[in-house]
Amino acid sequence: MTGSFQSDVFLSARLSLCYADKSVLSDVTLDIHRGEVLGLIGQSGSGKSTLAMAILGLLDRKQAHAEGSIECDGCDLLKLREKDFRFWRGRKLALVLQSPLSALNPALKISTQLKEAWRAHASGATAECVGAMRSALESVSLPSTDEFLRKYPSQISVGQAQRVLIAMAVMHRPALLIADEATSALDVITQAEILGLFRQLNRSTGTAILYISHDLASVAGICDRVAILHQGRIVELGTTQQVLANPQHEYTQRLMAAMPKLPTQAVSNEQQRAAAATK
Ligand SMILES: Nc1ncnc2c1ncn2[C@@H]1O[C@H](COP(=O)(O)OP(=O)(O)OP(=O)(O)O)[C@@H](O)[C@H]1O
Ligand SMILES: [Mg+2]
Repeated sequence: MTGSFQSDVFLSARLSLCYADKSVLSDVTLDIHRGEVLGLIGQSGSGKSTLAMAILGLLDRKQAHAEGSIECDGCDLLKLREKDFRFWRGRKLALVLQSPLSALNPALKISTQLKEAWRAHASGATAECVGAMRSALESVSLPSTDEFLRKYPSQISVGQAQRVLIAMAVMHRPALLIADEATSALDVITQAEILGLFRQLNRSTGTAILYISHDLASVAGICDRVAILHQGRIVELGTTQQVLANPQHEYTQRLMAAMPKLPTQAVSNEQQRAAAATK
């Protein structure tokens, strides 16, 4: 599980944030290590996306009042001006969101959208761009054919659309990819495939992933570490193994208890309890 995990810190957030007089994040302290997959788990409204948007410089600066720092590669992202942020976004930091088909432009071919993603941070010749598009598609196990590149979003499946978005996000080999509920809108089989793809990309490229979800069970399998966000506070942080095997905070314990169990697993647990009781 910790195959590509490295311990040096890429990003270090110390953050409190409020909208008007409503506190959303309180003294959130979170380090993201190079090459790790870190799960950020919390229920709806706990502040997960707010933290992601703060890292990506996408908060509404007029409404959100942030205090603290987000140190990344020797720079405090909270102090960065928008024009400087454009260098970071898509290059060092990338984002994949929940609804792939609405994130793609329905009027533009896949090739046009990949080209735009490439041109945002590169200025090579057309042949170089086409090569980058094909290798991006291959990296997410999509066909890199002209036929596929000519398709419109309505002509591909939702799972393929999510792969296209991931291809666009990793095109420039970002050091950190933030996946905000990136599998929540997918059926369970496609969800498992996309989770596997994130893990494979993490292993092959060393891109760190901040994997945001409300569902501890579905992402635990790909995360090196897990942070639990509850009402704007990190209430638990540890290796996935530590958190799953020995949840400390009452909210994490409730999350674990709410995990669905297969009937056979439930029976087996019941048998173990019965056996323990007779010892
Ligand atoms: N622009 C905004 N103005 C005011 N309040 C906001 C704004 N954006 C978010 N909030 C509030 O901040 C809180 C945290 O929202 P956020 O979207 O970060 O939660 P989340 O954990 O990502 O939830 P979900 O799982 O539903 O995506 C919520 O109460 C939300 O209503
Ligand atoms: Mg959210």
